[in-house]
Amino acid sequence: MDLYEYQARDLFEKYGVPVLPGIVADTPEEVRAAAEKLGGVTVVKAQVKTGGRGKAGGVKVAKNPDEAEEAAKAILGLDIKGHVVRRVMVAGGARIAREFYFSVLLDRANRSYLSLTSVEGGMEIEQLAVEKPEALARVEVDPRGGIDHAKAVEIAKAAGFPEDLVEKVADVFVKLYEVYTGEDATLVEVNPLVLTEEGDIIALDGKVSLDENADFRHPDHEELEDKAAADPLEAKAKAANLNYVKLDGQVGIIGNGAGLVMSTLDVVSYAGEKHGGVKPANFLDIGGGASAEVMANGLDVILNDPQVKSVFVNVFGGITACDAVANGIVKALEILGGEANKPLVVRLDGNKVDEGRRILTEANHPLVTLALTMDEGADKAAELAAK
Ligand SMILES: Nc1ncnc2c1ncn2[C@@H]1O[C@H](COP(=O)(O)OP(=O)(O)O)[C@@H](O)[C@H]1O
Ligand SMILES: [Mg+2]
Repeated sequence: MDLYEYQARDLFEKYGVPVLPGIVADTPEEVRAAAEKLGGVTVVKAQVKTGGRGKAGGVKVAKNPDEAEEAAKAILGLDIKGHVVRRVMVAGGARIAREFYFSVLLDRANRSYLSLTSVEGGMEIEQLAVEKPEALARVEVDPRGGIDHAKAVEIAKAAGFPEDLVEKVADVFVKLYEVYTGEDATLVEVNPLVLTEEGDIIALDGKVSLDENADFRHPDHEELEDKAAADPLEAKAKAANLNYVKLDGQVGIIGNGAGLVMSTLDVVSYAGEKHGGVKPANFLDIGGGASAEVMANGLDVILNDPQVKSVFVNVFGGITACDAVANGIVKALEILGGEANKPLVVRLDGNKVDEGRRILTEANHPLVTLALTMDEGADKAAELAAK
């Protein structure tokens, strides 16, 4: 889960990372009040989960509350790379002398952590990595040792920080690493980390991604979730405890087991090429216990996706045998009644496949077509979606 800048700022503050005061506001009036409260120069910043807000006009300096209110009017409602700004943060204004970059992240490929640091901050990191890779210090961080003081100094030196700043930034790196491990993050990024005219090191922008697999350790993370912005279908699936990811295609997919569902996505994408380029509409793994209720919940989510034109149910019977799955489908269609209004292609194989197919054949539901193989089912579902 990615956090908003203001949420990252709050976490930084909790761990003693130097930040400037920030107040969130949803209307120009609230922004004015916040600017009055902070006093002096403020910066009004769009709160959207994407980078490059500055370039898109989503970060504006205001010398007084009047200007802050004007800035808010310009920023609220702005569309930044498809994210509409509903909220801003009014932050204290820094007098920036230099901008740096620091991040620590999970390096899956190397089964380790990695810190990326540069004394050329401000620029987007992807751009920096391409245009000036030599300016980006990549230092592996062994999770067993983490970023202690010595490691932080090593990182600061590798990035080429001036001698008189090394100790100061190293302290901040250690604290940022404490945010990273303490909150079970997969990314903590500060761009820019600045040196002010007064000589202070401050995190002016923060990006934090939390590892949802560790949510059980962090009951307080739930309130960081942006329920309003979440995809409504994903929210519904989550409420029903389903493993669902919305994709952009037209063929709804239900399968049991993540591996089977992943390969079903591939096979449907491939089959879709012959049918005008239709694609899978989602990932949905109903897992081992494909009861009627789970099947009904899954179908309910998928059929409510307006992009879905057909559904491919691809189940390999194991502990939950095909007859149970077939009964699940029949009951699910009963439960859904008129809401089930799109063609379903069902491929069953494995344990008790003959009973499963017999149950579906006898039910003779007008929307259900049986397929013998995965390829045949994918092709049929893609064809129906293309109609
Ligand atoms: N509180 C602040 N005070 C002064 N300048 C700021 C402040 N926050 C951001 N800026 C300036 O605006 C630029 C862009 O802001 P930032 O928060 O990094 O947004 P983004 O990365 O989305 O463009 C920063 O590089 C910095 O120069
Ligand atoms: Mg930034």
